[in-house]
Amino acid sequence: MSREFGTEVVPPIHRVHPCTRSQSSPEKTGALLGAPALRRTLIDVPKVKNVARASDGQRLVLFRFPEQADFSPEALDFLKAQSAELVPFTINLDYDYWTSDEILHSVLPVELADRSPSGFAAVGHIAHLNLNAEYLPYKRLIGQVILDKNPSIRTVVNKLDTIDTQFRVFKMELLAGEPDYVVEHSESACRFKFDFTEVYWNSRLHTEHGRLIEQFNAQDVVADVFAGVGPFAIPAAKKGCGVLANDLNPNSHKYLVHNIEDNKVTKLVRASCEDGRDFIRTVFNRVWDDPLPPVAPPKLSKSQQKEKRRERKTSRPPSPQAPPAPRRKRITQLVMNLPDTAILFLDAFRGVLSPDNAGDRDLCGVYDRSSLPMIHCYCFTRELEPDKAETDIRQRVEEQIGHPIAHEVGLHLVRSVAPNKDMYCISFRLPYEVAYAC
Ligand SMILES: C[S@@+](CC[C@H](N)C(=O)[O-])C[C@H]1O[C@@H](n2cnc3c(N)ncnc32)[C@H](O)[C@@H]1O
Repeated sequence: MSREFGTEVVPPIHRVHPCTRSQSSPEKTGALLGAPALRRTLIDVPKVKNVARASDGQRLVLFRFPEQADFSPEALDFLKAQSAELVPFTINLDYDYWTSDEILHSVLPVELADRSPSGFAAVGHIAHLNLNAEYLPYKRLIGQVILDKNPSIRTVVNKLDTIDTQFRVFKMELLAGEPDYVVEHSESACRFKFDFTEVYWNSRLHTEHGRLIEQFNAQDVVADVFAGVGPFAIPAAKKGCGVLANDLNPNSHKYLVHNIEDNKVTKLVRASCEDGRDFIRTVFNRVWDDPLPPVAPPKLSKSQQKEKRRERKTSRPPSPQAPPAPRRKRITQLVMNLPDTAILFLDAFRGVLSPDNAGDRDLCGVYDRSSLPMIHCYCFTRELEPDKAETDIRQRVEEQIGHPIAHEVGLHLVRSVAPNKDMYCISFRLPYEVAYAC
């Protein structure tokens, strides 16, 4: 069988005999399908059933051989004993049948057909491609095939070389479908709406977002310095964390605010639109001055609710209640996902809790050596061996904060972004000497 789409496969068929519709019973068809003598003779083409209907309604059992001569004597004897008749039958394997890979393999020039250009990142209804130069002459064809073959996709775009370096927004061109770039995308059981041409979003970070959120617990207060439209901030708040989410891009901020409301976490997330350095310098003071709500108490079990109702009905005094939890005024986690330059912002932590920056707030009352926040800072390195990558990243971090990092240091390889470039997340506890530096 040829792999080209539109090719006709012409296997012979068996028409259940005698050939009047009423007599081609399911039982008789079943007997043929289950016969050991025909086991290796039935058609074996992916997605093609081995029973079809002829135009007159007859049930047709499809075989794999084009010629009667290809059948084994045993199979032919069995068919004869069943008074079965072999007739030709045509199956059209058309555009609908083939996968996008198979179609592109068939229509692209031979030298391009081996590698598949049909892979894409799905962002809501948008398929986002990053085509290599040699595929560009065929970009519209590739876009159309992807559009046709993926029912949830309405828009196909290709990333262009130019990138807005400040806000990490990709320039893109439309290859196929509607020019509609406002998407609704689900991640970590939250809904995110944004204009893909105006803000940063990378669906490939899904696992990384989940990995970090998993490390947070409901009591945490998270400060997200480069929050984008909220893929760390909003799921963390859904977990119960208090969150301060910041992004300098006004469009990211706009959608961040929308997503906070849409996901019903307004009580727990505060959004700001500032430079990351200013945010780091002021966020500790802000949480001190205006603490976040306490962690919501766990929901009562059915039996506890019943007990409460009973207490209300009778004049029984209510069972003693735990005192209300205090509002949260201490940041416990800081997220910095701007891998190109986040390390360069780390010097903003020098003296951030010292009186010079904190004024007369008694921050040392809540931040001691063991309760300083964990910092999760993303970065790139061109060192591809893990040991060398760690040395390189640690050196740059320590240079920037002006102190060795020793406590609870963890390094996680996020992904390889280019053949000679890896993305990492370094996590460490903010050193006391840095936070209180004069
Ligand atoms: C790599 S994206 C990460 C977004 C989001 N946290 C995520 O994981 O998808 C970095 C974000 O930092 C924002 N950004 C860039 N420079 C900034 C700055 N100086 N201060 C604050 N945010 C900045 C960009 O607008 C962008 O949304």
